[in-house]
Amino acid sequence: MTDDRGLIFVDPAAYAEPDRWHAVAAELRAEGPVHLVQAPGRAPFWAVLGQPEVMEVEKSSDVFTNAPAPVVMADPPSPDAPALESPVNTLIQMDGEEHRAHRALVNDWFKPGAIKKLTDQVALQAKRSVDEMQAKGGSCDFAADVAMNYPLRVILDILGLPEEQFPKMLRLTQELFADGDPDFERVGEDEQKMAVIMDVIAMFTGLNAERRSHPTSDLATVIANGEIDGKPLEDMDTYGYYLIVATAGHDTTSNAVAGGMHALLQHPEQLAKLQADPSLIDSAADEIVRWVSPVKHFMRTAQQDYTLASGHSFTKGDWVLLSYQSANRDERVFTDPFTFDVTRPDADRHLGFGFGRHYCLGAHLARLEIRAIFRELLSRLDTIELAGPTLNTASMLVSGPKRMPVTYSFKG
Ligand code: HEM
Repeated sequence: MTDDRGLIFVDPAAYAEPDRWHAVAAELRAEGPVHLVQAPGRAPFWAVLGQPEVMEVEKSSDVFTNAPAPVVMADPPSPDAPALESPVNTLIQMDGEEHRAHRALVNDWFKPGAIKKLTDQVALQAKRSVDEMQAKGGSCDFAADVAMNYPLRVILDILGLPEEQFPKMLRLTQELFADGDPDFERVGEDEQKMAVIMDVIAMFTGLNAERRSHPTSDLATVIANGEIDGKPLEDMDTYGYYLIVATAGHDTTSNAVAGGMHALLQHPEQLAKLQADPSLIDSAADEIVRWVSPVKHFMRTAQQDYTLASGHSFTKGDWVLLSYQSANRDERVFTDPFTFDVTRPDADRHLGFGFGRHYCLGAHLARLEIRAIFRELLSRLDTIELAGPTLNTASMLVSGPKRMPVTYSFKG
């Protein structure tokens, strides 16, 4: 019998209503940590809803691979009808030694020590965004006017791209990630993805050439001149890198910032706590990521039969959805998971950045960005409140507030 509740995992609009989504997911979790989803016109898959179970699947990366279909938007290829191949290969599509070697190229760039060096640069961008908010007077759309721009500027900074590329990059990431939202979509799923990818390739061709002839200390220089086994990276592989850094680092963080602000405005006592003690923001950043879970899922494919410690048995070939948003409210792991608490001691057990070998490359940068902007906002804002309905992006992959009218006043 088909269980319609599982449609929350394949309906972009369901993610735009997080309260309803969470109510259904909690009901499913109460029945068990793993559920079969059979949606009309889609390949069936198992949704993993529990925190320990998502960790176990991620940890067993030899058994559960990202290839061939790491997101639910792309059905796995059937033997008789192979899926459209993406011309660009990113870390998300890779497994095993290929993944290790490619990730090693930029790993050092994203380590805590290296990211710490970006503190002043990121703080400057945070200040600039809050300056712009202040210049707007007493009202703005916090999601579109503040949260959207800030992480993209940080990405442009670290890639060493000029600001003129800003509007193009913004459109690219929105089109690529907001898979089900008519506000951002192009026509036709496959055509849309391909057109976006081709746009990125055109933009980064010039950057590659420039950094090869004139190396600097930026991330683009590391990518453009990267070598694996003594051989320079193929151009297509460098494009994959630019694409993953530009896209994975933008909408995700924007949604964390907008969603974090939304949570604080809905829980004014938490906002008051942070304002009274801004040092709490260091740990609150993780509570924000747990609460918002900007990245909704990734998929894995079982390469052999496997039984989870909690009992569910997968069969070779099973397609598996890791629901970070559900795992982050797992009642067995988090005390009062439906309470937003900036002092939560168990916040760092969240899986909002994933786990294991694919653990978010940009997690330290994302935390730095979230902390920097809230520090700036909290120290300068006198009042802030919601001034109308918040609308969320309809997307199965990355979602959070896309419109969030607020009114506010600044100190002094
Ligand atoms: C709050 C913001 C962010 C969230 C919630 C987030 C979340 C995630 C998640 C859930 C994954 C998959 C992990 C897994 O499969 O276990 C991931 C992977 C990744 N993220 Fe992030 N991310 C964020 C920000 C960033 C930033 C700022 C960057 C880079 C500038 C970045 C770059 C990447 C890359 C390159 C991967 C692929 C890693 C791999 O497959 O080895 N992310 N992220």
